[in-house]
Amino acid sequence: MDRIRINGGKELHGTIPISGAKNAALPLMTASLLTDETLILDNVPRLADVAQLQRILGNHGVDIMAAGKRAGDSEYQGQTLHISAKNIIDTTAPYELVSKMRASFWVIAPLIARMGEAKVSLPGGCAIGTRPVDLLIMALEKLGAAIAIDGGYVLARAPQGLRGAAIAFPKVTVSGTHVALMAATLARGTTVIDNAAREPEIVDVADCLNKMGAHIAGAGTSRIVVEGVARLGGARHTVLPDRIETGTYAMAVAMTGGDVMLAGARPELLQAALDVLVEAGATVTPTNEGIRIARNGSGIAPVEVTTAPFPGFPTDLQAQLMALMTRARGTSHITETIFENRFMHVQELARFGARIQLDGETATIQGVEALRGAPVMATDLRASVSLVIAGLAAEGETMVNRIYHLDRGFERLEEKLSGCGAVIERITG
Ligand code: EPZ
Repeated sequence: MDRIRINGGKELHGTIPISGAKNAALPLMTASLLTDETLILDNVPRLADVAQLQRILGNHGVDIMAAGKRAGDSEYQGQTLHISAKNIIDTTAPYELVSKMRASFWVIAPLIARMGEAKVSLPGGCAIGTRPVDLLIMALEKLGAAIAIDGGYVLARAPQGLRGAAIAFPKVTVSGTHVALMAATLARGTTVIDNAAREPEIVDVADCLNKMGAHIAGAGTSRIVVEGVARLGGARHTVLPDRIETGTYAMAVAMTGGDVMLAGARPELLQAALDVLVEAGATVTPTNEGIRIARNGSGIAPVEVTTAPFPGFPTDLQAQLMALMTRARGTSHITETIFENRFMHVQELARFGARIQLDGETATIQGVEALRGAPVMATDLRASVSLVIAGLAAEGETMVNRIYHLDRGFERLEEKLSGCGAVIERITG
């Protein structure tokens, strides 16, 4: 299994190109199932999760062609996928495929909307606490689907098609909003989604669906209104930049010190996180090219942060912020409100000499003078990258084991960091 070796203590200087957002690319690819015409997606990141979803879509009969590079394309440009779900040959998403990635469960929405039936295994995914699908099922039932659970599978049927409905989510859910949105595009009549997630990835998917002929208004607010249409067509859409990748590298620079341009990043996608970085002592400068982040000389100031749905501080940056705060001059508190067990990185950060105490959903981090490199291992994507951030600042050698999770969500991580002066390499095998 591949590992990453880091020799810490180097400042980061240079440019890091930001990739397309994983969490937009996945639902955008899934949306291809809604039409028999070709959906072209540009700026799709090369990630294990994207490859896994390609396998899942392939199982339904979807043809995916990855276009080669064209003259003038940069080395880091994401791939262009031509996705055609002209013939859906199977409406079942099997356990072997779905259990590897939770977002693959979302195929249930376009399948039931277009085909009137779907059989999808209950999902797996990162080890970050129980992640139920009750609200996704609630949304589909409101839209008129009959749902049964049998043998670990969700069986959804709507032989007469879905019908528009009022869907009010009791809590903000990104997955629930994606599923409701995709299913409602082909339902008869109007759907109103209340307490909808406002994440930028929801807006990106709604934009693409509208290009495909959907009638969606209000994406990005907590009330989304969808007028159902009889069919959707093809479209071309560029995946928005990854705000979590952006925030992760911003935290890395704040941690090591230095000055880096995050090329292609958009500040409005992560304002809450940028505000926290400024409070922590970093200099954040939005430019035409992206976001410039620097920390020179000054130490890291402690912060109090609570994760929240967008536009709040994202849970997907919580582990990275915690790594940063291990070296703050004082005590920080980080409260996780989205997932109940997303603290798997705490015991691994302790291996660097970090001092962190957990009390329910709040972590208290007492900054230390210095971290020391260590062998570490993580069990989820964002936790893994928090260990990389700690390793970049730690004295001596850090070996991050089991980097499978990193490859799920960070494109060419070691190349991007070593391009800015980090001593980091992948050891294969
Ligand atoms: C998405 O997960 C992201 N995944 C996650 O990113 C991200 O952490 C999360 O949103 C929150 O921002 C993708 O976009 C592929 P939710 P999702 O539905 O949609 C509860 C990463 O590292 N809930 O908004 O699964 C749930 O348990 C990943 O890239 C129910 O109770 O998250 C959680 O407490 C990890 N019932 C809360 O809602 C349901 O039916 C928010 O979950 C659904 C969710």
